[in-house]
Amino acid sequence: MIRNVLLTGASRGIGEAIKKCLITSGGYNIISPKRRELDLCNDLSIKKYIDNLKTNIDILINNAGINNIEYIENVDTMTIQEMITVNLISPIKLIKSLIPDMKKNKFGRIINISSIWGIRSKEKRGLYSAAKFGINGITKALARELGTYNILVNSVCPGYVNTDLTKKNIPQAEQEKILKDIPLGRFAEPVEIAKLVEFLISENNTYITGQSLIIDGGFLS
Ligand SMILES: NC(=O)c1ccc[n+]([C@@H]2O[C@H](COP(=O)([O-])OP(=O)(O)OC[C@H]3O[C@@H](n4cnc5c(N)ncnc54)[C@H](OP(=O)(O)O)[C@@H]3O)[C@@H](O)[C@H]2O)c1
Repeated sequence: MIRNVLLTGASRGIGEAIKKCLITSGGYNIISPKRRELDLCNDLSIKKYIDNLKTNIDILINNAGINNIEYIENVDTMTIQEMITVNLISPIKLIKSLIPDMKKNKFGRIINISSIWGIRSKEKRGLYSAAKFGINGITKALARELGTYNILVNSVCPGYVNTDLTKKNIPQAEQEKILKDIPLGRFAEPVEIAKLVEFLISENNTYITGQSLIIDGGFLS
């Protein structure tokens, strides 16, 4: 059976790796809108996209995200709005609109890409952590709410991953310091995160739900 997947943020980084991984494994029809088709910062864009979506979605992967690293007294209202909207509110809106069909079909898989900063935090990560702790929270609540409909809801919490986001946010010297704190001695490759997502949405996962799975090379241990 071919499963329909809605995947956000597939233009690069982890999302692109998830898309490639699912194409390789086969059995999925992947719908991965570009930002001009679905702008997660824009309420109207989300509403229009959902209203015009013709396909029944079996699997939702909320992957798109942004990370503005700043001390809280330096962030402006627009940044607060953007960080919480893209990373938390929009994923919730997508979940809410897709759940009725999943319930009807008695099948659904929801993956929220969170972060280690949704488990613990660090200076300048206030808004990012507010959103990522939030997404881990709703993951747990929905696993309880939707379990009887065979809808499994999990979040994946990567540590440091080799993507544009990491390169943009962490200067080279700091990256070298961080590496010393990672037992496996390296950042993750996006495909390593993708493989975990692939397992969680596959027919092989019949019993994991409500979890925030940390994939960080041992960094938080
Ligand atoms: N990289 C890491 O080390 C790391 C660690 C932990 C968690 N994560 C999480 O993993 C996820 C993916 O991160 P990444 O590193 O792959 O990021 P990335 O390389 O910066 O890619 C971000 C993706 O999100 C999309 N996006 C951003 N704002 C959007 C908006 N308003 N509307 C629609 N799409 C939007 C981007 O689309 P455009 O191409 O249009 O900009 C892009 O496809 C995020 O949720 C992030 O918080 C990343």
